[in-house]
Amino acid sequence: MTDPAASPPAASPPAASPMAASPMAASPLAERPAPATRTPPFGPVLITGTSSGIGRAVAERLARGGHVVYATARRPESISDLAAAGCRLLACDVTDEESMSAAVTAVQAEHGQVGTLVNNAGYGEYGPVEEVSLDRVRREFETNVFGLARMCQLVLPGMRAAGRGRIINVSSMGGRLTFPGGGYYHASKHAVEALSDALRFETRPFGISVAVIEPGIISTGFQEIASETLAGAADGPYARLQRVVQERMERTYRNKLMTARPEVVAATIERAATTPRPRPRYVVTPAAHVIVGMRRYLPDRAFDAFLRLQFPV
Ligand SMILES: NC(=O)c1ccc[n+]([C@@H]2O[C@H](COP(=O)([O-])OP(=O)(O)OC[C@H]3O[C@@H](n4cnc5c(N)ncnc54)[C@H](OP(=O)(O)O)[C@@H]3O)[C@@H](O)[C@H]2O)c1
Repeated sequence: MTDPAASPPAASPPAASPMAASPMAASPLAERPAPATRTPPFGPVLITGTSSGIGRAVAERLARGGHVVYATARRPESISDLAAAGCRLLACDVTDEESMSAAVTAVQAEHGQVGTLVNNAGYGEYGPVEEVSLDRVRREFETNVFGLARMCQLVLPGMRAAGRGRIINVSSMGGRLTFPGGGYYHASKHAVEALSDALRFETRPFGISVAVIEPGIISTGFQEIASETLAGAADGPYARLQRVVQERMERTYRNKLMTARPEVVAATIERAATTPRPRPRYVVTPAAHVIVGMRRYLPDRAFDAFLRLQFPV
């Protein structure tokens, strides 16, 4: 899937790679390095999915702040302008093993290890649970979950060897609640939340912290793709639900009180990357705070009743 002509620089010889010196095979607790004392952010920063939206805003913001930023995208030509913003560019398709591995190896060859990983690449596969083809569901999970997990696996040996590092996973408020018509997208983000909770615990002894970003409704390319996936059989059993979800989604993304710009999420990600002690979770946008709070405190049936008001089918 990666354009070979645009592939990242060739990997360094194995001996020069921190992967080679990684204590991966040994008992992690026996060999763990002393906890990190260096002030974050732990550069260099590698960001996935920087062609648009949140990823692009993060790359621009961190590069402006003087950090060493590797902006990546599956279509490198889509980020060529980020070089002028001070970013270094790499190809990275998070559904392609070779592409992910080459991107991480390229950063490690120059810096020893990835200091901060921002797992941002993702999209929304919408549609009724009964009707979305499992091929589409697999693609969604390959991108939003397995790609994110594999990127973590690739950077962690280097981070452990260095005794420091930070992983920032872009989840969603949708990782804390579920809207009708978005079951598979929400399932992927719930998976990101669970993986991040496990990872936060597992990597703490190595000086590596993990934070989850939970944006609300953000004006990016997200809605267009989600709407496309939702456009299903006009006369099927879920046609009315699909129309209502589509209409609700369009209305919400047009509502300035409900939405925020990607730069707002970028500011939060910068905070998570640079604070000495990041929070496990960052909910972004006031509306997201309200609805995540409602999901947390309302009983299931009361939250369902609230959703029925929002999605009258
Ligand atoms: N916008 C929202 O309302 C919202 C809310 C909560 C969470 N989020 C999350 O925020 C993250 C960023 O989304 P966004 O809102 O900024 O949407 P966006 O503008 O559509 O950006 C998504 C990015 O992910 C990239 N991507 C998709 N598949 C990829 C793959 N296989 N390999 C590498 N990159 C891939 C896209 O690259 P291409 O250009 O190559 O497709 C694009 O750069 C996603 O994880 C999304 O779930 C968004």
